[in-house]
Amino acid sequence: MNNPIGSLELPGVKKFKSGKVREVFDLKENFLIVATDRISAFDYVLPTLIPGKGEVLNKISVFWFKKTKSIIENHFITDNIKEYPENLKESKEILNGRSMLVKKARPIEIECVVRGYIMGSAWEDYKKTGEVAGIKFKNLQKGDRLPEPVFTPATKSHTGHDENISFEQMKGIVHDRDAEFIRQKSIELYNFAHNYALERGIILADTKFEFGKIDNKIILIDEIFTPDSSRFLDRTQYEKEKKLVSFDKQFVRDYLLSTDWDRNSPPPELPREIVEKTRARYHEALERLTRP
Ligand SMILES: Nc1ncnc2c1ncn2[C@@H]1O[C@H](COP(=O)(O)OP(=O)(O)OP(=O)(O)O)[C@@H](O)[C@H]1O
Ligand SMILES: [Mg+2]
Repeated sequence: MNNPIGSLELPGVKKFKSGKVREVFDLKENFLIVATDRISAFDYVLPTLIPGKGEVLNKISVFWFKKTKSIIENHFITDNIKEYPENLKESKEILNGRSMLVKKARPIEIECVVRGYIMGSAWEDYKKTGEVAGIKFKNLQKGDRLPEPVFTPATKSHTGHDENISFEQMKGIVHDRDAEFIRQKSIELYNFAHNYALERGIILADTKFEFGKIDNKIILIDEIFTPDSSRFLDRTQYEKEKKLVSFDKQFVRDYLLSTDWDRNSPPPELPREIVEKTRARYHEALERLTRP
């Protein structure tokens, strides 16, 4: 197996931004997004790498960007290194499989979340208020399917934790018609992928999109339906015993919660067994979604 990638520089290429997981390089005309093997949880980048995770994320995003482009235009240009600009040629070994060339956009600063099932922060909010994004629901249990998918936007915090906001609050941040467009497209994308994944033994419980603008057009950017941006559950175990067995970071979050880490200081290393199981889950998600 190739060595895991924790950070990277490309000779002669300007780094535009280093995110928690991905590095964005400025190629003047376009961006190059490279997915590393870093993993984040509770808004911290963990000190341990998950070998091959970056490739899994990149491949899953490429797969969905191609599949959903008739629903909404997206930033994807190519992941074929032969089509990359000349100055990247010497880095092609490291870029192959874990990178994509994308159109530059101005990010819309909202986390666009769609939930078909109630888990995570929506479940925590519901327990307190009986509502999901301002809508009342009766007698929900953790993991229940919602009567219909709900759009639950959040602010994109650069420092602390993202905060759930109502659709009305979102309209205070972006134009009304942009908010309506984004909500409609988010739900449409979710429904499409939920149906598709279900056939592959995966329940797409919830997911997060990012949108951006090029001139005045809204397009989908960042990543799409990856195990970093979504909750994937095993369909069989969900339907048989309503067990919430996930192919995503939940496994790592659960491990961290079992330690004495206070979530307010640098996070601990992951044990080898947790790394291996996480790696296996990410690969399983890719396999199930993309096998012919
Ligand atoms: N086409 C695009 N144009 C501009 N920015 C993009 C585009 N696609 C993705 N991005 C940005 O690139 C970054 C990807 O890095 P990553 O997902 O690792 O970051 P993150 O830790 O989630 O970052 P942050 O919370 O700072 O957005 C994100 O900030 C995302 O908004
Ligand atoms: Mg991100």
